[in-house]
Amino acid sequence: MVALSGVDAEFSGASGTFPTVRPRRLRTTPAMRRMVAEHRTHPADLILPAFVREGVDAPVPISSMPGVVQHSLDSLRAAAVEAVEAGVSGLMLFGVPEDEKKDAVGTPGTDPDGILQVALRAVRAEVGDELVLMADTCLDEVTDHGHCGVLDSEGRVDNDATLARYGEMAVVQAEAGARVLGPSGMMDGQIGVIRRALDAAGHQDVALLAYTAKYTSAFYGPFREAVNSSLRGDRSTYQQDPPNAREALRELALDLAEGADMVMVKPGLPYLDVLRTIADRVTVPVAAYQISGEYAMVEVAAERGLLDRERAIDETLTAFKRAGADLVLTYWATEFARRSRERL
Ligand code: PBG
Repeated sequence: MVALSGVDAEFSGASGTFPTVRPRRLRTTPAMRRMVAEHRTHPADLILPAFVREGVDAPVPISSMPGVVQHSLDSLRAAAVEAVEAGVSGLMLFGVPEDEKKDAVGTPGTDPDGILQVALRAVRAEVGDELVLMADTCLDEVTDHGHCGVLDSEGRVDNDATLARYGEMAVVQAEAGARVLGPSGMMDGQIGVIRRALDAAGHQDVALLAYTAKYTSAFYGPFREAVNSSLRGDRSTYQQDPPNAREALRELALDLAEGADMVMVKPGLPYLDVLRTIADRVTVPVAAYQISGEYAMVEVAAERGLLDRERAIDETLTAFKRAGADLVLTYWATEFARRSRERL
């Protein structure tokens, strides 16, 4: 496949000019390296995940994610404007209701005045369709037990009862102005049920970003603080088990058959193999979610002077593009987009 004949000839030792084939020629200057780069991350590839907290009038820092906050409505609006100005494509919103409003079925998730819905309307009013507005369609931020679904009498996550709640949430989120929904709960059938609920309510144009391969991960740790989660235990009965790659293809087939418009792999860096495999097989856009723990690892290591922060960020984003991602959800979206525009 690769023509190595020149190399073979040189290995004969006949030439006194070995090596004549020198890959380093294309690495000599920044301009040269930029010219021959196989992959680039463009601001338009990026989606900013953001948290909005009910009942605060100033942003609340998230200590486990240095530099990320739980937004107030005002600071969220400002962050949305900054994202637009930097050229970021989308905003994925997570709502954090007041603790006392959380209950067993996640009522704030279907209340038109729940924080996520209020925030969707506020961002739409501020930036219109200049950002693709996305909503997390999941119950863990709004339930008092912190699971992604409702529980049965034995405390297990009840798949089909949860689907009914997702269908209701989806319609409420679409009505609040979300253009894309991200069902992140890993219930069986969630894409199909949400698609039908949206269509029945006249929201045929609201798209679904399927969390196709979402793995149970230790790297979600900081997110728990970000959404004030009260989860005890873990999500291993619904999220995928880390050793399984082939199973992701089964999830993929289901999501596509049920009507996914885009598919996603999550977490990002520990699952680049799954990302590559999926990207090689689909005709829909593929996203990677660089999650809270991936963010925190770089920030904390950089804080301690262990690595060059900006280079590390750039390298991780490059890794997603190289592994086949079209889109990347990253907490660095606005910062990276700004920096890449400055470089032009
Ligand atoms: C569930 C959800 C989670 C994240 C996004 N959606 C948490 C989980 O599955 O445990 C994690 C995002 C991150 O860690 O950055 N609604």
